[in-house]
Amino acid sequence: MSKPTSVRRITVPKIRARKNSEPIVCLTAHSAPMAKAMDKHTDLILVGDSLAMVVHGMDTTIGITLDHMIMHTQAVMRGSEHALVVMDLPFGSYEESPQTAYRNSARALMETGCTAVKLEGGIEMAETIRYLVKRGIPVMAHIGLQPQSVQISGGFSAKGRRYDDWPAFEADAKAVEEAGAFCVVLEGMAEPLAAKITKLIDIPTIGIGASCQCDGQILVTDDLLGLSPRIPSFVKQYAQLGNTIEEAVEAYAKDVRSRNFPGPEHIYAMKAS
Ligand code: KIV
Repeated sequence: MSKPTSVRRITVPKIRARKNSEPIVCLTAHSAPMAKAMDKHTDLILVGDSLAMVVHGMDTTIGITLDHMIMHTQAVMRGSEHALVVMDLPFGSYEESPQTAYRNSARALMETGCTAVKLEGGIEMAETIRYLVKRGIPVMAHIGLQPQSVQISGGFSAKGRRYDDWPAFEADAKAVEEAGAFCVVLEGMAEPLAAKITKLIDIPTIGIGASCQCDGQILVTDDLLGLSPRIPSFVKQYAQLGNTIEEAVEAYAKDVRSRNFPGPEHIYAMKAS
C-alpha cells in the first residue's frame, strides 16, 4: 500500500493558478532514486508511459500495462515529497468508457497515493475527463502528438504544420479545458500553434517539443540525461549518462580482468591466534 499523499506536496489548484505566471517545471520519472533527485527542483513529476520505451525497451508506449504504471508510480511516490505526482493512464485503460476510466484512475490514486492522472485525447475524451473530474479525479490532458495513437497517425511527426490543421487542435484544447482538465500537455506541435493555444485557453499549457510560450515545459528525463536509445531532435541534453555508465562499466571490467580489484582484506583480515 502507498503512503498517503503528503500535505506538503504542490496541489492541483496551485498548478492551475500558474497560468500566465511563473513557468511550471515538469519532468518524467519512473523510479524512487530518480524522483528523489528531481523532487525539489520540479513542480510536477509525471510517471509517463514513455517508460515503456525508455525503461522497458519497447518500440511504442502501447505494451505497458496498468499494473506496470502503478508499480512505477508507487516507487516515484516513495522517492518524492514535494512535487505533484501524475500517473499516465496506459493504452487500453480509459478509452472504452468513462466508467472504465474512473475504475482504473481510482485504482491508480488509491494504490499509489498520486494526485492526478493524465490521458491522451481532445474532443473525443472530453466526456471522460468531465466524468472523472466530477467524481474527484484531477486530470492532466494531452493533445497534439499522441504517442498512444502512432499506429493510426503513422509516427512521431510534429502536428499543426499546416494552417488548415489548426482549428481541430484549437477545438481539442477548448474541449479539454471546458471538461475540467487542470492543465494540458501540448506535444510535438508547431511553435506558433502552441503559442496561440496557450493564449486561447485559461488552463496552463505544458509544452514538449512545442513552444517556450507554454505555461510550463516537460521532457522525458532519460532524454535530457542522454540515456534514451532514440532522443528527439528538440531535446537539449543536459548530461550524457549513457556514456558515463559505459565508461564506468568498461573501467570496472578492466579492473576485474586484471585482478586489480580491491580485495576483502579489511573484512577478512587474519588475526594472530
Ligand atoms: O509518457 C510521457 O512521458 C509523456 C510526456 C511525453 C508528456 O506523456
